[in-house]
Amino acid sequence: MKDTVLRKFQEVFGDADGAKVFFAPGRVNLIGEHTDYNGGHVFPCALTIGTYGAARRRMDNKLRFYSMNFDGLGITESSLEDLTPSKEAGWTNYPKGVMWAFEQKGMKIPAGMDLLLNGNIPNGSGLSSSASVEVLTGYILRALFGFEVSNQDLALIGQFSENNFNKVNCGIMDQFAIAMGKKDNAIFLDTADLSYEYAPIALKGAKIVIACSNKKRGLGDSKYNERRSECETALEELQGKIDIRTLGELDEEAFEEYKAAVGDEVRRKRAKHAVYENQRTIRAVEALKAGDLEQFGQLMNASHVSLRDDYEVTGVELDTLVEEAWKIEGVIGSRMTGAGFGGCTVSIVKDDAIDRFIEQVGKAYRAKIGYAADFYVVEIGDGPREV
Ligand code: GLA
Repeated sequence: MKDTVLRKFQEVFGDADGAKVFFAPGRVNLIGEHTDYNGGHVFPCALTIGTYGAARRRMDNKLRFYSMNFDGLGITESSLEDLTPSKEAGWTNYPKGVMWAFEQKGMKIPAGMDLLLNGNIPNGSGLSSSASVEVLTGYILRALFGFEVSNQDLALIGQFSENNFNKVNCGIMDQFAIAMGKKDNAIFLDTADLSYEYAPIALKGAKIVIACSNKKRGLGDSKYNERRSECETALEELQGKIDIRTLGELDEEAFEEYKAAVGDEVRRKRAKHAVYENQRTIRAVEALKAGDLEQFGQLMNASHVSLRDDYEVTGVELDTLVEEAWKIEGVIGSRMTGAGFGGCTVSIVKDDAIDRFIEQVGKAYRAKIGYAADFYVVEIGDGPREV
């Protein structure tokens, strides 16, 4: 891949003198969905697929961007004087947003750059291709200009840019999972205070299989921000009765005791999901540590049911993938992953059931939805790096 991006860099920008190649992964969340902006826990991991970027510092303030995933667009030119979001800027709003965020945080970028990207995360799949580009850009800025920022800072800067430049009110999970990724480990992160712990994922005789619904979605135009504000309103209502800062501070019992404070049934369901999902995530990690993969799988399944019925972020495509998966012997657990409304499911499948899984779920999906799903057997990889 390094040679491929350098060759393309040379073709696009004339020569590749001084260009370096970097990588940032994509991520999949195993459990803990729509909890990260509610002060709850998440349990994601970085993948071995992700975004490669060749970059070189320039003598002037120009920015030249090229993506091998959007070859038809050619070079997009901009400059450090023009770090403002625009529709025409397309995907370059992500790297530009991170540059803008560095400057907002007092780190003036001293020179422009040529940047060529090539990602192998399916676009719009919910495996965080945009957070991958954000963390990659931050990593490149650090490498080229020597800014003193930690990987955790890169995650926070990525989220800041996504919230304030690209106007998607996302939580910290994606950028954190990517910036802090560790091979063969998932990250048990408490989003209330960013304390975290790595948990080895030793799936003896099973693998993580991602099924991509191929229903495209953008977080910005989905109902993501709406769910978030429903939770915020529910929290305010609960705060009238109990002293909490986030929904993540409640357990099931406390929620049941105070839930009448939430004045609307839909909002009550949203808050219920946030509370129960957080507790499920804590229990799932305990089960995993105790070697009880069956229990972990059951909790993944329960997570999907809650996202389908209470949080209502699944849709017929994700429900079909998951409900078909549940029918197959050898599936330990299956659920939607990421924001929802399209994107992917994540399943833990025993090795000898993987072929059957792909065939049967694929067939049922095509019959019901009318187009094909894609399947990926994935591995958990490390965080960003120079390659
Ligand atoms: C998206 C957001 C994350 C998180 C998930 C849902 O991936 O970027 O911050 O909220 O949705 O769990």
